[in-house]
Amino acid sequence: MKTYLVTGGAGFIGSNFVLYMLKKYQDIRIINLDKLTYAGNLENLEEVKHNKNHIFVNGDICDKELIEDLFQKYDFDYVVNFAAESHVDRSIKEPEIFAKTNIIGTVNLLNVAKESWETQDSWKEGKKFLQVSTDEVYGSLGDTGFFTETTPLDPHSPYSSSKTSADLMVKAYYDTFKMPINITRCSNNYGPFQFPEKLIPLLINNCLNHKDIPVYGDGLNVRDWLYVEDHCKAIDMVIREGRLGEVYNVGGHNERTNIAIVKTVIDYLNKNVDSAITEDLIKYVEDRKGHDRRYGIDPTKIKEELGWYPETVFEEGIVKTIKWYLDNKEWMEHITSGDYQNYYKNMYGHEIS
Ligand code: NAD
Ligand code: DAU
Repeated sequence: MKTYLVTGGAGFIGSNFVLYMLKKYQDIRIINLDKLTYAGNLENLEEVKHNKNHIFVNGDICDKELIEDLFQKYDFDYVVNFAAESHVDRSIKEPEIFAKTNIIGTVNLLNVAKESWETQDSWKEGKKFLQVSTDEVYGSLGDTGFFTETTPLDPHSPYSSSKTSADLMVKAYYDTFKMPINITRCSNNYGPFQFPEKLIPLLINNCLNHKDIPVYGDGLNVRDWLYVEDHCKAIDMVIREGRLGEVYNVGGHNERTNIAIVKTVIDYLNKNVDSAITEDLIKYVEDRKGHDRRYGIDPTKIKEELGWYPETVFEEGIVKTIKWYLDNKEWMEHITSGDYQNYYKNMYGHEIS
């Protein structure tokens, strides 16, 4: 039985990954370490609440003693590091916590894994540290071209700079110590359980509440959208088959302007839910500072080496996503109100950090 340390497994992608893995494999054990910041939500994990192969631990990846105790107790085969401060707008307002969690937290995990996995002249068999990174480390594209794994790193925001720093530390542990690592760099994810500060869930939530939809700048910035389950599948493949020390880009050649995404969601909700949801809700607002213009991933390497491909086309994925938010209005109400604090307090006896 392989034992995984999944960090940030109560957040958007992390919780999707935990559910995906426990559905796919009966013979794995996941220790899910999450600080439960505003973005972590135990309701995402309801489905595995009684699964004996899932153990939730409320804690911080920067806490060395805690990570050491966990390594001693569970002798992990794999570390999958999702834990991060993930929102670009927040990083512009408060960069320090991004440096702390995303850089120091990652180095702390690397150090403890190294202490536990390194033998006198080599490494214990079958171990791997997978760093979940982002296409934002490559900076911004013009109208043409794509990010490959050899595109120079050129981050702009405090968020992407902190993720780049973490990637470089992970690479340094491979280059210096030959630590068994992989790095995945994925484009924008969408799907269930995404916190409504990010474009798609914010947009759905605002539409349903007839609130303005803030579109930054001219609305023509381009993102490359990937259904979250396809990302989870890629991570699973890289853990099992990725060549040690390698970076794998993950994306599905699905580029859209922000305004096109906004209009697609409005159109669906207008036709299927409420005719009062119209493009009148769109409000162009001041642009994000340092706003990257275009992201676009070239996924050739992961396709050719590991046979990964995205199964969900955008037209299906976006409808599935909208329907999930329509069917889970309570989930949205809880995290946008004080209810989640109460839920957490009942469960843990104290308030969330
Ligand atoms: P998220 O903000 O939804 O979740 C982050 C999780 O990490 C939360 O559960 C939070 O409680 C936890 N966390 C934060 N600080 C922590 C700490 N110090 N110790 C332990 N847990 C902590 O983020 P997400 O969108 O699910 O992103 C997950 C990872 O994937 C991040 O590393 C992000 O950089 C990367 N990524 C995200 C996307 C995307 O489109 N969302 C795309 C590419 C890469
Ligand atoms: O590319 C991967 C990255 O995608 C991840 O590394 C990040 O963790 C994740 O948050 C996401 O970053 P973005 O900044 O691209 O995502 P966000 O949803 O914040 O914004 C998507 C685009 O929509 C971006 O061009 C800004 C724009 N936007 C966003 C919001 C929240 C708006 O126009 N209005 C909004 O209200």
